[in-house]
Amino acid sequence: MRNILVVTDESREVADLFQSLKSAINRLKLKQRNISISTDSVNPLKYDIALLDLDSRAWQKKLLELRRYIPVIAFAKPDVKKAVEAIKLGASDFLEKPLSIEVLNEIINKHKKKILTHDYGFDETMGTSPSMQAVYGLIKKAAASESHVLITGESGTGKELVARSIHKWSPRHDNSFGVINCSAIPDTLLESELFGFERGAFTGANYTKKGLLEFSDGGTVFFDEIGDVSPLFQVKILRVLQEGEVMRIGGSKPMRVDLRIISASHRDLVDSIRKGLFREDLFYRLNVINIHLPPLRERLEDIQVLVQHFLEKHSSKRKDLLVKGVSDEAMNILMHYAYPGNVRELENIIEHAISFAGSQQVLPADLPAHMQQTPSQKVTPTPKLRETLLSVEKELIWDALQKSGGNITKAALLLGVHRQQLQRKLKELK
Ligand SMILES: Nc1ncnc2c1ncn2[C@@H]1O[C@H](COP(=O)(O)OP(=O)(O)OP(=O)(O)O)[C@@H](O)[C@H]1O
Ligand SMILES: [Mg+2]
Repeated sequence: MRNILVVTDESREVADLFQSLKSAINRLKLKQRNISISTDSVNPLKYDIALLDLDSRAWQKKLLELRRYIPVIAFAKPDVKKAVEAIKLGASDFLEKPLSIEVLNEIINKHKKKILTHDYGFDETMGTSPSMQAVYGLIKKAAASESHVLITGESGTGKELVARSIHKWSPRHDNSFGVINCSAIPDTLLESELFGFERGAFTGANYTKKGLLEFSDGGTVFFDEIGDVSPLFQVKILRVLQEGEVMRIGGSKPMRVDLRIISASHRDLVDSIRKGLFREDLFYRLNVINIHLPPLRERLEDIQVLVQHFLEKHSSKRKDLLVKGVSDEAMNILMHYAYPGNVRELENIIEHAISFAGSQQVLPADLPAHMQQTPSQKVTPTPKLRETLLSVEKELIWDALQKSGGNITKAALLLGVHRQQLQRKLKELK
């Protein structure tokens, strides 16, 4: 629990009450940092829970605004009608005046779970590292804005989780969250999935189908692996973003759609732009807010909370035994692993360990066999940096030469190097 927002018109009286409650609240170890009292709903993103006085002006409007972001506890003079209306509008609870410390304590404890403390994570995204704390800030910012978001990061770092969280905390959360996985889908299929089709539009279209974009009107669309969309199809997506309209295949009139786009890619899109594989104009449209999820090996301090989180998430899979923790030795192994599959791999490891555990604690023997080697025996690949760099260079140059039809000047331009430099490299690579 951190910051409590109290919204009331009777700020004097309520301020006095909370002032007198403050030391009592501190004694209750609610760890609140700050109680702010305001006559308006201010910026809800700075707070974790709100107490809203229903004996204030325009309380319905304030409630609707606040409840999108944080749990709202309503309080008022005894009034059943008001209480029912507030609960209908989304208040999490209703308290009668005068408030007392006992009631407040009880109610805050009850809602603690719903409150987004950032100490361990944001919603379902866990992690204590500074880089994840920065990510939580960006999720909040993205949730409150209508801007398009691009999430980047290696496979298994939580891109989809973050995308869902943004939608969930955004004002669009009552509308749909459409997901399209763009990787390895041929353009024709992608087109009918996204835009839908009219009956008779092509052979086999013997019914009318709404596309995902039309279906998600008013909501959010998540383009997963946007970097895999062909340059030709990128133009179609760009047009939707520019014009805010979609048209079914075989249709005759465009329909307006109101969409927030969140996209994700494990590729470095700037590099794809350089290689001519991704349109720069589309990139800038999509990348208004950028959230980068670092690989797990760069934030090992997140492992402890992630392990605990996955133990709780998957422990119900064992009916005979409640696996609650991890022994120090097993934790030591977990902390010294490189996680090429990132958080998804850690989750699988914990699931595996739960099914193999013979006691309430996960022991080294419960971990997958390839992890059980002691650090000294661990296979660490010798970094063959030069060979790796050379092969990457070769690939990029080959790519550029193909695109330029063998023209070295054009290829050099694509690669962003001087012509002579490229010639030298070509000689070197034979
Ligand atoms: N920070 C996190 N806290 C809790 N669970 C996480 C976290 N990051 C990832 N996960 C879990 O790991 C799994 C993979 O996450 P997700 O599918 O979001 O990754 P991704 O980046 O989209 O991966 P891919 O690129 O392979 O699709 C999911 O089960 C997700 O719940
Ligand atoms: Mg994904």
